[in-house]
Amino acid sequence: MSEVLVQVYGLTKHFQDKKRGVVEAVKGISFEAHAGEIFGLLGPNGAGKTTALRMLATILTPTAGTASIGGADIVSNPDGVRRKLGFLSGDTGLYARLTACEMVEYFAMLYDIDAQAAVKRAAELCERLDMGEFWQRRCAKLSTGQRQKVNIARTVVHNPPALILDEPTAGLDVLASRNIVQFIRSAQTDGKCVILSTHDMGEAERLCDRVGIIHNGIIAAVGTKAELFARFNADNLEDVFLRAVGEN
Ligand SMILES: Nc1ncnc2c1ncn2[C@@H]1O[C@H](COP(=O)(O)OP(=O)(O)OP(=O)(O)O)[C@@H](O)[C@H]1O
Ligand SMILES: [Mg+2]
Repeated sequence: MSEVLVQVYGLTKHFQDKKRGVVEAVKGISFEAHAGEIFGLLGPNGAGKTTALRMLATILTPTAGTASIGGADIVSNPDGVRRKLGFLSGDTGLYARLTACEMVEYFAMLYDIDAQAAVKRAAELCERLDMGEFWQRRCAKLSTGQRQKVNIARTVVHNPPALILDEPTAGLDVLASRNIVQFIRSAQTDGKCVILSTHDMGEAERLCDRVGIIHNGIIAAVGTKAELFARFNADNLEDVFLRAVGEN
């Protein structure tokens, strides 16, 4: 088995909510993901996916448990984690007044890439994600799909070994999703570890090597697709999902 890049052990998050009191959003989840692997986190709305991924990205501090990305601990070494990780979430915004090109170069420089290398890296990503048509346009004027490409570019600009993508294709049309999916596959071919959350069972089934099904903050099942099909006596991920979620 290839190198373990993401290790999650007993990760827990409780929120203090004025109306609801203590919300146990994530209740001690554990899993691993490897280099060259696409790991899918599937779960219904409110299951705890975004909360879990935000803890891995060091945006939220865990209530309990540990995790590491490329050997860097999310609590004791958040800077180390940020260097090893690209994180894409639905609410990552772009600076309206910067062009797509400027946006990607700017993020490269935030990762301490020198100006010359940043220009080169941005041009490379422009080509890889086919952004030429809108590369010099301000982000405010981009369509949802174009914006998502710029977001992906900024997520991977420092060439991290691990990527965490929270619903990367949500709200995109077939063509735009296919673009993103192709990019995810090429990242896998490059040996990246990709963790993604999605509601799209077909996409998860086509794309993911292993899947964790999260429900009410707990991992209800985890394994390769073949393992899950056998365990839940199913021949597709949707049935696995319904049975795993139903069991809990
Ligand atoms: N800042 C917060 N304060 C209080 N409760 C929160 C907070 N953030 C998330 N929650 C709660 O934690 C639970 C998990 O939410 P989370 O966003 O992680 O789910 P999700 O699996 O990403 O759902 P979706 O598929 O809808 O994106 C929900 O009950 C949510 O209301
Ligand atoms: Mg979410």
